[in-house]
Amino acid sequence: MATKSTVILGTGCYAPPRVLTNDDLSKMIETSDEWIVTRSGIRERHIAGPDESTSDMAVEAARAALADAGLQATDIDLLIVATITPDLPLPAVACNIQHKLGVPTQAACFDLNAACSGFVYGLDTACAMIASGRYKHALLIGAEKLSSIVDWNERTTCVLFGDGAGAVVLGASDQEGVGLIGTKLGAYGDSTDLLYIPKGGSSCPATAESIAAGDHFMKMKGKEVFKLAVRAMDEAARDILEQHGLHADQIGLVIPHQANLRIIEAIAKYLELPMDRFFVNVDRYGNTSAASVPIALHEARKSGRIKAGDITLLVAFGAGLTYGSALIRW
Ligand code: ACO
Repeated sequence: MATKSTVILGTGCYAPPRVLTNDDLSKMIETSDEWIVTRSGIRERHIAGPDESTSDMAVEAARAALADAGLQATDIDLLIVATITPDLPLPAVACNIQHKLGVPTQAACFDLNAACSGFVYGLDTACAMIASGRYKHALLIGAEKLSSIVDWNERTTCVLFGDGAGAVVLGASDQEGVGLIGTKLGAYGDSTDLLYIPKGGSSCPATAESIAAGDHFMKMKGKEVFKLAVRAMDEAARDILEQHGLHADQIGLVIPHQANLRIIEAIAKYLELPMDRFFVNVDRYGNTSAASVPIALHEARKSGRIKAGDITLLVAFGAGLTYGSALIRW
């Protein structure tokens, strides 16, 4: 029978055991729980240990997603990892993860960098590859060790980020009308300077001076990112709803990128939806970039917030600035 749709067969997530609270941070830098909660909604975040890599976290999330799907690593023929913090600049961390998990050497394995929108970009990519009929089971992972690219002396950024991984297993279904309904992806390439790492790339390789200056760490213009994030997420949500003839009211649950509670509240206001239609866990994880949406998706499923027949809207933005939305019917 012909493939009619691409569906999520299983989800999983992993967060490192070490929890860094706002009070812990206030002992390291000049900040307070009150400032962080008021500006961002974040109360704590998980931080990977020195020997815990992005691939280690990804493997844990992937194993949970495979178990949830009732599949083995040997069933996977496509492995995509959305990340801005691969174990090394080269090779793709997808290959390290393939090896650690025991995914067959015949599987296509690659990384995808669309920052915090990476999971939504990866979902579109994996679903298109499965819909082509050339791939059967995809493992899509969002995994980040952001603590490795955060400047822990820079209070305007370090309080916002955390580490973790989320994963989904995707496959074809003969059932019509379920799975990925559609996606809307885009980017504002004129705003690359809002969130970036100044040095260490091919245009300006790292030097002793650049490292001493901290130019291998993430730099962010917070206020500008905030404004563009709200605009991009609102547009991405509206566009996809309009494209598929849906009203926001028909969405059972919105799973937004977990960067800042105030950004999520602004989107809720623009879409005229109550906050209880939004899944929020930014208070416990902070911003985990590409891992944020799949961790939230997994927690939403496991806590019973998603039921058969529901339509879920994923919406994200990230460095680039990239943005993306996706509609899934369960
Ligand atoms: N603790 C205490 N005070 C602080 C801290 C801190 N951690 N950080 C900044 N301040 C101070 C500032 O120095 C400033 O002081 P001043 O008024 O004396 O100059 C004051 O607090 C206000 O700072 P603002 O930058 O104006 O604070 P704002 O209300 O804009 O909030 C924030 C900052 C939380 C960063 C907000 O702009 C934001 O969330 N932006 C979006 C960031 C984001 O989502 N990034 C993720 C991108 S996704 C990706 O791809 C990784």
